[in-house]
Amino acid sequence: MYRKPVLVFVVGCISLMVTAVMFDRELRKHDMAYRRFPMAGNSNSTIKAAKNTGLRLLNSSSSSNCSPRKNFVWIKVHKSGSSTTTPLFQKYAYIHNLTVMMPAHGGPILSWPIPPREGLYVKPRTGVYNALYQHSRYNKTWMEARFPPDTAYLAIIREPFSHFKSCFNYYHVSRVMKTKKTSHSTNPLQTFLKNPWPYKTEALSYGVRFDKTRNAQAFDLGYPLEKSGDLDWARRYIDQLEQDFLLVMILEHLEESIVLLRRLMCWELQDVILRSGTSNSRNYSFKHYQPSRTETETYRQYSAVDFMMFHRFNQSLWRKIRAQGDDFFGEVRHYRAVCAQVREFCRRREKSALLTIPSTRWNPRYTFDFNLCKSLGTSATAYRNKIWNQLGYGDKINIEMIYNVRQNHGSMLKQARQNSKERSIND
Ligand SMILES: *[C@@H]1O[C@H](CO)[C@@H](O)[C@H](O)[C@H]1NC(C)=O
Ligand SMILES: *[C@@H]1O[C@H](CO)[C@@H](O)[C@H](O)[C@H]1NC(C)=O
Ligand SMILES: *[C@@H]1O[C@H](CO)[C@@H](O)[C@H](O)[C@H]1NC(C)=O
Ligand SMILES: *[C@@H]1O[C@H](CO)[C@@H](O)[C@H](O)[C@H]1NC(C)=O
Ligand SMILES: *[C@@H]1O[C@H](CO)[C@@H](O)[C@H](O)[C@H]1NC(C)=O
Ligand SMILES: *[C@@H]1O[C@H](CO)[C@@H](O)[C@H](O)[C@H]1NC(C)=O
Repeated sequence: MYRKPVLVFVVGCISLMVTAVMFDRELRKHDMAYRRFPMAGNSNSTIKAAKNTGLRLLNSSSSSNCSPRKNFVWIKVHKSGSSTTTPLFQKYAYIHNLTVMMPAHGGPILSWPIPPREGLYVKPRTGVYNALYQHSRYNKTWMEARFPPDTAYLAIIREPFSHFKSCFNYYHVSRVMKTKKTSHSTNPLQTFLKNPWPYKTEALSYGVRFDKTRNAQAFDLGYPLEKSGDLDWARRYIDQLEQDFLLVMILEHLEESIVLLRRLMCWELQDVILRSGTSNSRNYSFKHYQPSRTETETYRQYSAVDFMMFHRFNQSLWRKIRAQGDDFFGEVRHYRAVCAQVREFCRRREKSALLTIPSTRWNPRYTFDFNLCKSLGTSATAYRNKIWNQLGYGDKINIEMIYNVRQNHGSMLKQARQNSKERSIND
C-alpha cells in the first residue's frame, strides 16, 4: 500500500538532487566568469589611439598654476540635465586614459539603487580607479573604499518642481494614479497635487524603496526615502554632502556651474566645451505648467528634502562663485561665446575649415579642425565602447540586471505593494 508514496519520495529526492547539482554548476559557471573577468588591464595591443579631438595647434601652454584633477566620481542624478553634462566627463576620461569603473555587463548603468556586487564591475589591473560617471547612487562608504582619497565628488541637480514635472512625465506616473476617467481635471499633475500622499508611487528595487515623485534627487545622492519626513536628519545629511562634494552643479545655472567646474578641477576650456545647450528637450503637455500657490506649497511639503537640498546647493554654488573674484563672469561670457562659435562651426559642416579660438586669460590659443565636432558629437554608447577597449576590459558578462526604472517601473511598484503587505502581516 505504501510503496507508491515511497517511490514518489525517492524520485522526488533524486530530481531535487539533480536540480541542485545543475543549479550549482550554473552558479559556478557565472562565478568562474567573474573570476576570469575582473582582472582586466591595459594591454597596449587593444589601444588604437584614434583620439582625435580636432585640436591642430595649441599655442602656448596654459599658464595655470594648478594641476588638473583626474580622479572624479560624477553622480548622474536622473532627470536633472545629466545627459547634457555627462559627455564632458566621458570625453575627459577617454582623452586622459583614466581608469573608469564600469559594470561587467558593459551597459550604461553601473548599478542602481544599490552598489554593484563583487564580480559585477570590472577590476583594473592597476587596482586603482580614477573615474565613475555611469548611473549609480551615491554611497559614501562604498565609493570611498574604492576611489582615491583625493577624488572629486560631483553632481548636478535642478529646481525640484521642474524635476518633478520631468519625472512625472518620464516615468508615466499618471498611469500609476488610476484616477477615474470622470475626473474633471485633464491635467494629471493637478490631480496629483491636490493630495499626493495617498498615491501609491513608492517602488522597490533590490530591496530599496524609492519614489520618483518624492525627494528623488536626494535619493540619487544617497538619501533614504524612509527619512522623507525627518527634516533634522535631512539637514545633517545635506551638511555631510556639502563636505563630501567638491561641486554640485545647478541646471538652472549651467554655464556658471561649468565654468566653476573647470576652475575647481583645473581643467582647460577645451575640456568643457558643449556642442548642444541641452540634449534633453522632451516636450509634454504639462511641461510649462505653472503651479498655483497652493500646489507649490503642497509639493514643497511633500518633497521637502529636495527643496532643502536644492536651496543649500544653490547657495553654495553662488558662494563659491563669489569666491572666484571679478573675472568669473567674464569667463562665463567667454565660455558662452566659444560654445556658440563651436556650434556654428559644426553646423556649417565645412570639413576642411578651421576654427581658431584666440588666447585669453582663461585659455591658450586653440586651432581646431572638423574632428572637434565629431568628438563632441560622439554618443554615450560609442564612448563606452571606446573606453572599454582602451582599458582592455575584455569580454562583457552576459547578465541582465534590472536597473532601468523607466522600463521596469510597473514591476518595481508592484514589488513595493507586495513588500508593504508582508510588512503589515509581520507587524
Ligand atoms: C606594449 O607592447 C610592446 C610590444 O608588443 C611591449 O614591448 C610593451 O612592453 C607593451 N607595453 C605595455 C605597457 O604593456
Ligand atoms: C604663438 O603666439 C605668439 C604670440 O601669442 C605668436 O607670436 C606666435 O607666432 C604664435 N605661434 C604660432 C605657431 O602660432
Ligand atoms: C594614453 O595612452 C596612450 C597609449 O598608451 C598614449 O599614447 C597617450 O599618451 C596616453 N595619454 C595620456 C594623456 O596619458
Ligand atoms: C552602501 O554601501 C555599504 C558598504 O558597501 C553597504 O553596506 C550598504 O548597503 C550600501 N547602501 C545602500 C543604500 O545601498
Ligand atoms: C509642446 O507641447 C505643447 C502641448 O502638447 C504644445 O502646445 C507646444 O507647442 C509644444 N512645444 C514645442 C516646442 O513643440
Ligand atoms: C540661486 O541662488 C541665486 C543667488 O541667491 C538666486 O539669484 C537664484 O535665483 C537661485 N536660483 C534658483 C534656480 O532658484
